[in-house]
Formats: sequence, structure tokens, C-alpha cells
Amino acid sequence: MSISLMPLPYAADALAPAISADTIAVHHGKHHKAYVDKTNAAIDGGPQADAALEAIVASARTSDQALFNNAAQTWNHGFYWASLAPKPSAPAGELLAAIERAFGSTAELTEQLAARGAGHFASGWVWLAAKDGTLSIEETHDAETLVGTAANPLLVIDVWEHAYYLDRKNVRPDYLKAVLDNLINWQFAAENLARGTCWTYPG
Ligand SMILES: [Fe+2]
Repeated sequence: MSISLMPLPYAADALAPAISADTIAVHHGKHHKAYVDKTNAAIDGGPQADAALEAIVASARTSDQALFNNAAQTWNHGFYWASLAPKPSAPAGELLAAIERAFGSTAELTEQLAARGAGHFASGWVWLAAKDGTLSIEETHDAETLVGTAANPLLVIDVWEHAYYLDRKNVRPDYLKAVLDNLINWQFAAENLARGTCWTYPG
């Protein structure tokens, strides 16, 4: 058994024009795949060859920086694909109530996500997370992840340049606006909040 490249939950052109099919093809087919391949190369024949991705991330966090980077990036990208959806939706129910308690409104939350994403220095990830019943925006640098932390990730936006450079050149705020206005899978965030435990990478 090895870690698999999580299939996209939608067609490669389904997120256009917010994110083009070309960007998705490279991001999923090259970048995500490379993280998967490097993770598998590192665990092949070793004690973690059959381990779940979350266990590999947890183990490598304190013992193997290169494996941690590739395993965490594998997980982060799977979570990112699941955080996006072709059809716009809106938070409802318990998720909406939690957003209103923490941020006042969904509009304020998305404005803060856009600002944090635009302001994040260099490569990383901007997350909506739940901790002790309260929502917060978290940032992680490079491959760092919320897997195995006290914060339960609800959704994530990739702010590495490879997520937007083909479409937006260096204008990260335009990418963030397009994603936040059109592609957030609020149903996925609601499911993560309701479950109360961290999403599991499928394979
Ligand atoms: Fe990425």
C-alpha cells in the first residue's frame, strides 16, 4: 500500500474562470503528484510503508523534515481540493452560527481570509479552523499543516505561487477574491465542524 494521489472531486476545468484548467492540471497533476511520489519514495520498504498519511505526518514532524514536507503537502493539497467546489454556496446552520459568533458575518470572515491570504509572506496556507468550539483564521508557512494540532481545519486556501501564477501572475489578491467569491465549499467546512475531528486523507 502506498499513498495515492487524491482524485479531484470535480473536472479539471470546473473551477474556471476563477482557477483555470491549466492551473489545475499543473497544480494537481504535477505539484500534488510530486509530493505524493516523494512521500512514497521515502516510506517505501520502511516501517511506515503501510501507515496512514496522518500518522506519517505526525511521525515525520519531529524526525524527518523532508518527509514531513512532502507528506504534509500531500495532505494539505487533498484538503485544498475538497475545500473548493464549482458552485458557489453559503454557510448555513451551525457553521453560519459559529461564523457569526467569531466574525460577525460571512462577509467579514471572507474579507479577513482575503486580507490574511494577501498578507501572508511567501508560501503557505490560510485556514479556517475550529478550536474549543470557536472559529479562527490560521496561517501556516511552507508545508506546515494543522493536521495533528489542536485546531480542527474546516477549509484551506493555498497561497503558494503555483496556485495562481499561471492565471494571475503575481497578483495574489485577485486569486483570493476569485476563490472566496466563487469556489468555497462551505458544505465541506460544515461537515468538518460537525464531525469535530480532523478530515482524513482518502488513501
Ligand atoms: Fe499547492
